[in-house]
Amino acid sequence: MKILKIKNISKSFDKLKVLHKLNFEVKKGEFFSIVGPNGCGKTTILNILAGILVPDSGKIILEKEDITGKISGKLGYMPQKDILLPWRNVFDNLKLVTEVQENAANTNSLIKEYMKKLNLLAFKKFYPYQLSGGFIKRTSLARTLIYSTITGANVIMLDEPFSNLDAMTKYDLKMDLEKILREEGRTIIFVTHDISEAISISDRIVIFKKRPARIKKIFDLREMGKEGLEEKIMKNLKDEI
Ligand SMILES: Nc1ncnc2c1ncn2[C@@H]1O[C@H](COP(=O)(O)OP(=O)(O)O)[C@@H](O)[C@H]1O
Ligand SMILES: [Mg+2]
Repeated sequence: MKILKIKNISKSFDKLKVLHKLNFEVKKGEFFSIVGPNGCGKTTILNILAGILVPDSGKIILEKEDITGKISGKLGYMPQKDILLPWRNVFDNLKLVTEVQENAANTNSLIKEYMKKLNLLAFKKFYPYQLSGGFIKRTSLARTLIYSTITGANVIMLDEPFSNLDAMTKYDLKMDLEKILREEGRTIIFVTHDISEAISISDRIVIFKKRPARIKKIFDLREMGKEGLEEKIMKNLKDEI
């Protein structure tokens, strides 16, 4: 079942054409990755989905509702840039997303639950400057997941969540994240420029052509398996560059 439809989305910044008649659909419960070179428009499409940017043309349909240009609580978003407030500790940064909600009961137990799931309990009182890169990402992820739980967002968008992490840290975080998201049955849109990362986590991978971004190809990993896939995707990308 399709949960999200991206229909004919185009977007330019002044003369720079970033997206051109982009079309794709995301199925309920899948891990859907967007892969493409830096600057091809991956963050731009997520910002459009999140309602932060308005497209020049086209539509975004989420569960049959037209959400084009609107910020919908039904979509959780972890942006590429860190969003933690430096003057708040981990707990208070997490608390922040629950403060926007009128019905604040049970939010502390929700925060605790996600601190536990993301191994953050021991860092509750730490400020962002005291955290390593991996734990900053963990806190940002916890924040996105708490927000998504409160607003009932079934689709979660993650923009390069593992970028700038060393290999071990990345591996640990990826294992935890995958476990949490699969257990919760969420639909994931995962953006990365790292092909092997996308292969290891995804059900389907869409390859964006360089600007203006259009769909080059969609790989369904459940149908084709992962063997030799990295080379195939690399070749696909290389043909473009
Ligand atoms: N708000 C903006 N104003 C002007 N140009 C932008 C803006 N946001 C992104 N761009 C440009 O659009 C292109 C695509 O950016 P982005 O979506 O961030 O790429 P990616 O996430 O794939 O690396 C880049 O050339 C970038 O400089
Ligand atoms: Mg980006």
